[in-house]
Amino acid sequence: MPAGSRIGSLPACRCAPSNPSPHSTSTPVDSAIWNQRFAGDTYFYGTEPNAFVAACAPRIPPGPVLCLGEGEGRNAVYLATRGHAVTAVDQSAVGLAKAAQLADRRGTTLDTITADLTDFAILPGVWAAIVSTFVHLPPALRSAVHRRASAGLRPGGLIILEAYTPAQLAFATGGPKDPTLLMTLDGLRSDFAGLNLLVAQEIERDVLEGAGHTGRAAVVQVLARHP
Ligand SMILES: C[S@@+](CC[C@H](N)C(=O)[O-])C[C@H]1O[C@@H](n2cnc3c(N)ncnc32)[C@H](O)[C@@H]1O
Repeated sequence: MPAGSRIGSLPACRCAPSNPSPHSTSTPVDSAIWNQRFAGDTYFYGTEPNAFVAACAPRIPPGPVLCLGEGEGRNAVYLATRGHAVTAVDQSAVGLAKAAQLADRRGTTLDTITADLTDFAILPGVWAAIVSTFVHLPPALRSAVHRRASAGLRPGGLIILEAYTPAQLAFATGGPKDPTLLMTLDGLRSDFAGLNLLVAQEIERDVLEGAGHTGRAAVVQVLARHP
């Protein structure tokens, strides 16, 4: 279990396994699948940051950053090396242990929290940025987490999000096969109503981020700022 603070987290309480997909719901089965996926020395999505996160990083104001569903920590570690105090949250203790190892190798540190986002309370008004890359949650949970994230920003704070859209189903390059888990710009506009959208686009791009994301892909990107 990775060490780290426990800012604003509550214990996971869902306990009814229902779907074997690693992207579908967050249950002990899901975290077991993600733990299995992240086992071994290879970083499934690589050790370099997501390209959209890297492009947005210079716009993050000074202050702490929260990375949701952060997996093995590639974004969190990158942002920590840029001087942010970073907290990485994920249901996978195995992923977060590798995140802590990567941070150590890069000469930096992270706070890690092993938690189910279903039960994860985001403290309001705290974060300079909240990052979510390819965190495909069931629709009700997705909206709830996005609204909590909006409230979690301090004035001027940023949401940085990239995810697959339903058009990704035509590509076999990563992401869930359940269309309800995929995100649209319209849905994200609704989730992040109240924030100013600085980037809001559905695009096709080459996503070459580890073995997990391997080619042409249909994604939605949102950079949103708290007024
Ligand atoms: C496709 S991976 C992306 C990891 C990381 N964001 C990246 O881009 O490298 C999805 C991550 O979301 C996490 N996740 C999915 N549902 C979750 C939930 N309900 N609570 C916590 N983590 C969750 C998984 O454990 C996994 O690490």
